[in-house]
Amino acid sequence: MARKIIIDTDPGQDDAVAILLALASPDLEVLGITCVAGNVPLPLTSKNARVVCELAGRTDVPVYAGCDRPLARDLVTAEYVHGKTGLDGIELPEPQMPLQDQHAVDFLIETLRAHPAGSITLCPLGPLTNIATALQRAPDIAEKIAEIVLMGGAYFEVGNTTPAAEFNIHVDPQAAEIVFKSGVPLVVMPLDVTHKALTTRARVEAFRNLGTRVGHAVASWTDFFERFDMAKYGSEGAPLHDPCVIAYLLKPDLFTGRHINVEIETTSELTMGMTVADWWRVTDRAPNAMFMGDLDADGFYKLLTERIARL
Ligand code: BDR
Ligand code: CA
Repeated sequence: MARKIIIDTDPGQDDAVAILLALASPDLEVLGITCVAGNVPLPLTSKNARVVCELAGRTDVPVYAGCDRPLARDLVTAEYVHGKTGLDGIELPEPQMPLQDQHAVDFLIETLRAHPAGSITLCPLGPLTNIATALQRAPDIAEKIAEIVLMGGAYFEVGNTTPAAEFNIHVDPQAAEIVFKSGVPLVVMPLDVTHKALTTRARVEAFRNLGTRVGHAVASWTDFFERFDMAKYGSEGAPLHDPCVIAYLLKPDLFTGRHINVEIETTSELTMGMTVADWWRVTDRAPNAMFMGDLDADGFYKLLTERIARL
């Protein structure tokens, strides 16, 4: 039976690739896509999610708009990485499929309550505002969630947005704190892993050589946002952060990590949004997250390319 998931996202080219990977995978059933403000403001993320569904020919997947700003801070966006639209790199048609009327947070609460406990996995790929709001408004859903597999944070790589913080956690640290303290089983894909999921010329050309519209779009997106990371890190390519979340659901053996305590810094302006990960187990704080540290990058790109080829 396909695993039921809800993708919570702020597309973003790497979010878009993650969504495509999920939609290409019969072993996953995407119950809905909930959008949040992050890489770009909410009107754009909720439009981009529909652009991606239409590209995949999956207008049956409902897309919901959620929170348009973090719980307690002003919204910080990342057009400098993703471009003005959030999906720069290729012109795609305006979406025709409608946005659902229901608020993303109501959809999350209603759907989790309507399903047996442990049957739905949440996959946050952006700031955790929608998920935290749902948990705050309906604490009973915590025990309904099978698992939250999210992209966010960093330990060895520290920060990509401030010297101490990764973007998704930095944008809404209060939301992240709620999620990390929720007691829901967490699997975290930090920069420590995603910075190993690097594109190379050969990997991007493999997408392009699929000869499909989707393969061409994936190659164009990665070409676009590679420039920023290559200049910043001096790396050969760019990290495909968010697809790590979906790849983990499909092939967990690609990843290794540690079950450890992870707390979120929410008071210091200097280190706001830092994921304080007890990687070396130097405290007696109880483990609350499977915090990943490494991946098989070749295996990851093989999986990604094989699945994208199906669209
Ligand atoms: C995260 O921030 C966004 O720019 C990406 O989509 C990813 O979710 C990486 O820090
Ligand atoms: Ca994202």
